[in-house]
Amino acid sequence: MNRPWNNLRVRVFPDHWSLLFGQIAFYSFVVIVLSGVVLTAYYEPSVDHVVYDGPYTPLRGVPVSRALDSTLAISFEVRGGLLMRQLHHWSTLIMVAAIILHLLRLFFTAGFRRPRRLSWLVVFGLLIVTMGAALTGTSLPDDMASGMSLAVLDGVLKATPFVGSALSELLFGGQFPGDVIAWFYPLHVVVLPAVLVVLFVAAAVLALKHKPAQFAGPGRTEDNVVGRPAIVSAVKSAGLFCFVAGVSLVMAATATINPVWLYGPADPANASAGVGPAWYLAFLDGALRLAPGWEFVVWGRTVTVAVLLPVAACTLFLALVAVYPFLEERLTGDRKDHHLLVRPRHNPTRTGIGVAGITFYGVLWAAAGADTMAVLFHLSVNALLHAFQILLIVGPPAAFVITRRICLGLQNQDAEIAEHGLEIGTVIRQPDGGYIEKHRPIDAERRRQLAGASRPASGT
Ligand code: HEM
Repeated sequence: MNRPWNNLRVRVFPDHWSLLFGQIAFYSFVVIVLSGVVLTAYYEPSVDHVVYDGPYTPLRGVPVSRALDSTLAISFEVRGGLLMRQLHHWSTLIMVAAIILHLLRLFFTAGFRRPRRLSWLVVFGLLIVTMGAALTGTSLPDDMASGMSLAVLDGVLKATPFVGSALSELLFGGQFPGDVIAWFYPLHVVVLPAVLVVLFVAAAVLALKHKPAQFAGPGRTEDNVVGRPAIVSAVKSAGLFCFVAGVSLVMAATATINPVWLYGPADPANASAGVGPAWYLAFLDGALRLAPGWEFVVWGRTVTVAVLLPVAACTLFLALVAVYPFLEERLTGDRKDHHLLVRPRHNPTRTGIGVAGITFYGVLWAAAGADTMAVLFHLSVNALLHAFQILLIVGPPAAFVITRRICLGLQNQDAEIAEHGLEIGTVIRQPDGGYIEKHRPIDAERRRQLAGASRPASGT
């Protein structure tokens, strides 16, 4: 029977730094699970109140939940506790960043085409579930920052017409804030990590099922794989694990993250500017800030667009990202299997769409920091938000057009080099007074590499 892991010993895996993001995401997940197990031994998932009497004097005598009390104890009293908390948090950021970079790599090199369309969906699923795990995790310490994220989430849910209150009660197990921690805790430590394990296994099985995709290069074709034997790749991968764990440990030991003692206990009445969601969720916050405050009355109920519109826009954006491989296949009619990756410049339209998407996400992301920017640069926050609103509309199409032009320019430049060779900076004056520039011919391999671009710029 032809199982994905058959013949593993004789298989060959391509070697390129950009193919490592998936592994970095997995190894960060391993670090997260290991540090999470240590944290579970000391953390108390309870919103019952106690009066803080630990070693951090500014909070002495302040009523806090058991959750925050235990998080403070982990930070100041448990030996190595703060290191574990920071390791858990920094690895989360590395994991999210690695998955996003992996998705971007798949997108811009067309690594999502047949037969890898399903792998794209799995990686997208990994991103969404990891964000869910991170959101539930940051809510656990029950500090001011986590309380504010939950208050925003509650507001968004309640703004859903007709079913808003029911949705909020369902999530928070009653009136907000309810006993959200008791409900988030099992979700965070068991359910979501289990889903992530399933997704990682699915990604590995899919990766082994097909021949690995590779960049074009010496002797590489659609039918072969040039790279290192599985055993060498496995040893390198083990080295990568040590590197990821080492870097996360150094970050955890030297850079403070989520200092809950400075924020104090969760209290929506004391919400402060400058406290926002983690960077990867900031685009949702930015979307809320940029939405116009329009309201309508439907059947005697007020429906606000200020929340519905950004939620709908972000959901549509994420849905488009998820189904992009299927959309592209439908629009281009390309149903062939592909095992050679593409340089972004060779498909200006796709690259343009990708940069337009990044611009859309980037503007929303930047808008989440509008209040901080306004204070820092002495600007009006309203003027800044208007500027971001305009940028959100004109930015993505402009990014699309500019990127497409750049790709076509690069293609022409490649074609020029393939035809005439590299400029060496020597200009010769000829007897008739004319000037010619000398070129160094390039080897056949380099010419082949550029070949994709040396076709007339088609704009596909
Ligand atoms: C990919 C999966 C996971 C992600 C993204 C994640 C993320 C987070 C984050 C960002 C925090 C807040 C940390 C802080 O206080 O600054 C947190 C807290 C926590 N996590 Fe996880 N976590 C994951 C899996 C796990 C697992 C598998 C366990 C246990 C086996 C666990 C146990 C905990 C505990 C006990 C806390 C509360 C303690 C604290 O905040 O200091 N986590 N998690």
